[in-house]
Amino acid sequence: MSVIDEIKQKTDIVDIVSQYTSLKKAGRNLTALCPFHSEKRPSFFVYPEQQSWHCFGACNSGGDVFSFVMKKQGIDFGETLRLLGQRAGVTIPSRFEPDARKDERERLYQANETAAQYFHNLLLNSPAAEKARNYLASRSISAKTVSDFQLGFSLNSWEALKQYLLERGYAESELLEAGLLVETEDGKTHDRFRHRLIFPINDSRSHTTGFGARVLDDSLPKYLNSPQTPAFDKSSSLYGINLAAPAIRQQNQAVIVEGYTDVITAHQNGFTNVVATMGTAVTEKQLTFLKKLSNAGKIALALDADAAGEEATLRSINYENSLDIEVKFVILPKGKDPDDVIREDSQTWQAMVDGALPVVDYTFTRDESLAIDRLLPIIAMIKDDLRRDRYLTKLAELSGHAYKKLELESTLQGYLTRQKVKEPKSAAVARVVHSLHSSPLEEYCLALLLQHLQLKNKNEGLLAEYFENSENREVFTAWQQTDDLSSLKAWLDTTIWEHLDALINKKIPSNRIEQKYANCVLRLREKFLRALETKKGAALTLEAETGGTVAEMAKLKEQGIEVSTQLREVFTQKASRDWEQRR
Ligand code: UTP
Ligand code: MN
Repeated sequence: MSVIDEIKQKTDIVDIVSQYTSLKKAGRNLTALCPFHSEKRPSFFVYPEQQSWHCFGACNSGGDVFSFVMKKQGIDFGETLRLLGQRAGVTIPSRFEPDARKDERERLYQANETAAQYFHNLLLNSPAAEKARNYLASRSISAKTVSDFQLGFSLNSWEALKQYLLERGYAESELLEAGLLVETEDGKTHDRFRHRLIFPINDSRSHTTGFGARVLDDSLPKYLNSPQTPAFDKSSSLYGINLAAPAIRQQNQAVIVEGYTDVITAHQNGFTNVVATMGTAVTEKQLTFLKKLSNAGKIALALDADAAGEEATLRSINYENSLDIEVKFVILPKGKDPDDVIREDSQTWQAMVDGALPVVDYTFTRDESLAIDRLLPIIAMIKDDLRRDRYLTKLAELSGHAYKKLELESTLQGYLTRQKVKEPKSAAVARVVHSLHSSPLEEYCLALLLQHLQLKNKNEGLLAEYFENSENREVFTAWQQTDDLSSLKAWLDTTIWEHLDALINKKIPSNRIEQKYANCVLRLREKFLRALETKKGAALTLEAETGGTVAEMAKLKEQGIEVSTQLREVFTQKASRDWEQRR
């Protein structure tokens, strides 16, 4: 493992950032007043899972832990590395938060259940819910489904639910704790879910733990969810589990999708073993639960073809190691979710689930050119010798034996010895997996640039900010500054030399270089914009949930629209390029 990787592995961005500003939980992420400029409301975010940060305010930039320290301390990459290196190895004991008391949780379940009945009754009977009823009809959601899932409607009011529950003896503080109310800065409270379609979320014992709430038009954010509460933890919840559990037990198989409507449509069409993660990455807790429920049976993931699929693929090996199950992947047609597929033709859906692929095959179908680079380090992480060997054979086969199994094995041995230096703890493993795999595309692109200096004359609009890894960003900036390889090292800190050499010596077939480069830049841009879009979404949701001012919301939305426009451009370019290449 390189020095850089080792320091990254032992450094948590959250720890570092907390030294400069006070972070607050915001869903899976953290937020704070930006430490780089003064502001009244937080526009600075930290994403622990990606080990990255972003400021949507005056900075409008972001990166990893290195770029954070560089910017904050005004020092260069090398100094930052030494600083963080010194600090690494110091283990900070994580605080242990005791479980909330059981009866307190029971009280929150009750408040939620009363709220769910209230919302459900409004949907069925209130004249104000006419539009919501029409909307459900337009999506062919039946009366039985509405009743099975206890779907509901919240009035366009700040206090309707609050008054209803106060009259029934609940305290304002309890409703706040349940996440049904939001507290504004001046200490007042109001209903969280207003003028939305309501999806109550239940646990496997049918306690109502939280809610998802969808707009009835295409305004943003599309869904508001309950915040983390003593009763609701999004990362261990599975939407639909109360209804799906019997089928999962019976069939020894569970299918995981992303969205509320995916679950609902699946169940309405008889696929009752389907549950959803509600848009976030699948977690070990969720899988452990499903493994038990299905008697260690089959688990299939049917996630969005692009972003989520990629993330899940990388994680799945970790799950396989720690849980000893094989998670398979359903290949969805581009741009479609299970809801679309099932409504078009439920038999197609069944066939897709039956044809779910193991991680190696799945990654190969997604991206042949990067598959080997991406998969070898992942396969190296597999603890089970037999399974690892099976995957290697498979990989050689899938590459049409362009790569010999022996050759793959020896590269893999390289990864293995590097990993053996120190057996990291599981959180660190996740981060190593991340640092090993988040960057194949970045590194592939840099290798192209370094090995074919004539590409300097090609302006494809590649920007330093597309490189999330600071060491890659450093190499790219240095490449921009110089015209020959020999002076490149002078621009770079000595700690990066090893990385640079690896890039220069990386094996890449040397045909169609310009085309490869153009594709690469396009994909880096797409990756960058997608990440930005997700991060903006999180910022917007937070603003909405904490009662942001109209002006602030408008500004964020505007930025969001700008990102979408740029993404659409990328798609158009990709489509026309695919077309050209096929001719
Ligand atoms: P999607 O945007 O795919 O929504 O997000 P969907 O479920 O297909 O909804 P429809 O079909 O447009 O009605 C997938 C899931 O991600 C979570 C929700 O759980 C959603 O079902 N999500 C999405 C949020 O929590 N907040 C959002 O703003 C968007
Ligand atoms: Mn959908």
